[in-house]
Amino acid sequence: MCAGTAECDAPLKVITRMAQDKDTRMVSGHDQPEDDGALDRALRPKTLDDLIGQDKIRDNLRILIQATRARGEALDHVLIYGPPGLGKTTLSHVIGNEMGANVRVTSGPAIERPGDLAAILTNLRKNDILFIDEIHRLNRAVEEVLYPAMEDYALDIVIGKGPSARIVRLKLPPITIIGATTRLALITAPLRARFGAQYRVDFYPIDAMELIVSRAARLLKTPIEPSALTDVAQRARGTPRVAIRLLKRVRDYAQVKADGRITPELAREALSLMDIDPLGLDDLDRRVLKTIIEKFNGGPVGLETIAASISEESDTIMDVVEPYLLQLGFLDRTQRGRTATQRAYEHLHIPYTQPMQPGLLS
Ligand SMILES: Nc1ncnc2c1ncn2[C@@H]1O[C@H](COP(=O)(O)OP(=O)(O)OP(=O)(O)O)[C@@H](O)[C@H]1O
Ligand SMILES: [Mg+2]
Repeated sequence: MCAGTAECDAPLKVITRMAQDKDTRMVSGHDQPEDDGALDRALRPKTLDDLIGQDKIRDNLRILIQATRARGEALDHVLIYGPPGLGKTTLSHVIGNEMGANVRVTSGPAIERPGDLAAILTNLRKNDILFIDEIHRLNRAVEEVLYPAMEDYALDIVIGKGPSARIVRLKLPPITIIGATTRLALITAPLRARFGAQYRVDFYPIDAMELIVSRAARLLKTPIEPSALTDVAQRARGTPRVAIRLLKRVRDYAQVKADGRITPELAREALSLMDIDPLGLDDLDRRVLKTIIEKFNGGPVGLETIAASISEESDTIMDVVEPYLLQLGFLDRTQRGRTATQRAYEHLHIPYTQPMQPGLLS
């Protein structure tokens, strides 16, 4: 019925966008209104062979899918976690395609009451996949409906109230839940324990990013010279969604300023117009680092304090700024807060001063 089509995606898009409306940066890993549309769906890899990078996940999935198909069973429940824009939704649709299964799409905040989830579950057929995006945002009462559905393919319905209330168990067909989250730490232990397969998507290395940009340029029918391709790939902070967005903006620039062919000069001009530096840092990343360094002596300083001093949402800093700065080794996360590393000082051309040790007088 609904296998990753535009209709299935529509309600999900509306909900995720509400939560992320403010994050409109060029290098944000978050989904943005302009990312929507037929073009972006066309760019999404459809099969395991189409997927670039994430080799370990691909190898594991190949075995899981092959073994499950041979047994004719529903796939074990899968949890995919990691920063935004790295391919969690893409992977879940790839799994659906490889299994030849219908994928129904919903998200944590869209399921408000236990009855909503019960309605979705009772409409699923044998071997269907239910993809729950932002699964960490499911409320407790809804989560409890999910436990027996995942464990025993059953739905427990409470009939009546008070002492005369009783539970009636309905059988569900064998189904698969695929959960995706950017916040593994917010998933409760009982829910996490019910996922037989758990995969962490990681930032992509530069060679994979180059392949992603080159594939997207080919699908967008945009000629791009090799070193321009490397430039775009390098500034996309290891995130496919950012790579595709940057490529589209550079393509616009090349079309307006020249004949549409992306040369290294045009790419560099377009990227510096967007204020994205060679490592992919934008103004917000730099403000976070500069705040820690200049206002808090390099740290340690708490996330909320950083957010307040630059008037940003702490969620945006935690989801999109921090993971990449941690990955670059520009930031350390300690129990007492965040500290900027020597590499961050060097990148920003600020002379490095050793942070003060607690208990020591200067
Ligand atoms: N391995 C990959 N190879 C090529 N393109 C990819 C790959 N992974 C993701 N993409 C592209 O990157 C874009 C973002 O991927 P996706 O929507 O799956 O990210 P996500 O992890 O679900 O993000 P979010 O946390 O915001 O939901 C997609 O449009 C897809 O085309
Ligand atoms: Mg997604």
